[in-house]
Amino acid sequence: MPKDKREILVTSALPYANGELHLGHMLEQIQTDIWVRYQKLIGNECTYVCADDAHGTPIMLRAEELGIDPESLISDVYDNHLRDSKGFLIDHDNYHSTHSDENKYFSELIFERCKEKGYILEKEIDQLFDIEKQIFLSDRYVKGICPSCRAKDQYGDNCEVCGKTYLATDLIDPISTLSDTIPEVKKSLHLFFALSQLNNEAKSWFKSSKVQKQALNKLNEWIDDLRDWDISRDAPYFGFEIPNYPNKYFYVWLDAPIGYLASHKNFLSEDTEEFSKYWNEDTTTELYHFIGKDIIYFHALFFPALLLKANFRQPTGVFAHGFLTIDGEKMSKSKGTFILADTYLKHLDPQFIRYYFSTKLTEGIEDIDLNLEDFIQKTNSDLVGKYINLASRSSNFITKYFNGRLSEIDENHELLQLSRKASEKIFIHYENREFSKATKEIMLLADKTNQYFDNNKPWEEIKKDNNSLLAHEVCSVTLLMFKNISIFLSPILPNIFKESQGFLNLKNLSWADLDLDLSGHTINEYSPLITRIEKESISRIIEDSKE
Ligand code: MSP
Ligand code: ZN
Repeated sequence: MPKDKREILVTSALPYANGELHLGHMLEQIQTDIWVRYQKLIGNECTYVCADDAHGTPIMLRAEELGIDPESLISDVYDNHLRDSKGFLIDHDNYHSTHSDENKYFSELIFERCKEKGYILEKEIDQLFDIEKQIFLSDRYVKGICPSCRAKDQYGDNCEVCGKTYLATDLIDPISTLSDTIPEVKKSLHLFFALSQLNNEAKSWFKSSKVQKQALNKLNEWIDDLRDWDISRDAPYFGFEIPNYPNKYFYVWLDAPIGYLASHKNFLSEDTEEFSKYWNEDTTTELYHFIGKDIIYFHALFFPALLLKANFRQPTGVFAHGFLTIDGEKMSKSKGTFILADTYLKHLDPQFIRYYFSTKLTEGIEDIDLNLEDFIQKTNSDLVGKYINLASRSSNFITKYFNGRLSEIDENHELLQLSRKASEKIFIHYENREFSKATKEIMLLADKTNQYFDNNKPWEEIKKDNNSLLAHEVCSVTLLMFKNISIFLSPILPNIFKESQGFLNLKNLSWADLDLDLSGHTINEYSPLITRIEKESISRIIEDSKE
């Protein structure tokens, strides 16, 4: 039975709970949020869940450094992350934590189901052990000489000079970066998820799912070299202890994606039926993960395979995006371009960057550059100069000469026909995450409307005749177009959308209201919806971001 209303569950990647959110994180959440708002706007049922990724060695060590419990660290960070997401108008339906009862439950359940089916293997492995700190060292905490090219100071997994991957135990003269001592090789029992046996299943998942071309290329490369995946870590570790394996913990990347289920479960609380509807194998609902390009492996190989073997549904699609650069370079603390979400919010309206990112976002995984000059220029010219200008210049006359009342408007007016045509394209661009194309299309409409206003010179007509029919119609059509453009932009500019509705004296506008006729409708007096970005705001953000 075809459904008229799609049921969609959406996630963005769970930020690590050991630091603050920066503009790179916000790029992802903004992309996700716009897509979710768009789905809701057109009438689909869409739920957006996220959480903090609260486990793992870095978080344990960070808490130790601060002299506090990991629990207290992750709870502080949770509050900060939530504050920043809200600050950027990210409308999560639920924001949870992987350090939660729900997540423990599902991690154990998924592990047990995989184990029953024989997909969990025990293997004894050699690992580097820091005697002073009494801890097994993960790759990022070991440095040494590359066994292949002899480059110094290389991490335990691969060489940045020659690109070769190896085992940490193969490093020459390894040193623990935690204590600067020489680690010893020690044996330990680890649990592995038998990914290497799932070659065909993995392939069949990503062939039948919505995965981007570039990601597919990588997956095809990886698939021929699938290795079993080490899912356990030895104590001390901050995470969930594995049932029946004392002192062994689930590796953070096992319980992290399971955090998506946990957050959804937490959102639905006792409604188990609704939860099953989304997570059962035979579901007809859709599930999409928005992620950065660095974590495709986990989302397109491990996670679908885990879900499959645990009898849960698999994702409908995984949508990766590129990394944020600023003025063409990686974000840098010394240059003041490592911009924290919070720092940005102290100086600028989040909608500006939501719009700017939209003009850059495509369905691809290329990196996305925030060029600060261009950011000021584009925001001021598009949002203030083209979009908001429509409201300010036309409402003036309507309020002053026509008691706030719009004229009769011909539904076949040329501009309305243009708007209808554009709506079909904009609809598809949003759906396909081609926000840059959507904004281009929308701005074209704003241009056309401004030209129409300019060509008809209502200010001159009014001078000749206070009751000028032409001036009345031109301003009314312009406002009707402003309403439509506001609807088109609403996933990107949610606050301006709210305020525009107040000004237009309308409520709960949605996609269906593109056809709403405003003939004879009375509007409220206009007060400025946004003001231009000043150069100084940007300088202050950079100043505040310097170390
Ligand atoms: N905790 C993992 C994700 C687990 S999901 C089950 C993680 N956390 S993270 O904090 O490092 O990153 C969270 C998301 O932000 C990831 O999708 C990552 O790709 C994205 N980004 C982090 N830095 C980024 C940029 N500079 N630019 C764009 N996205 C960035 O990975
Ligand atoms: Zn090397």
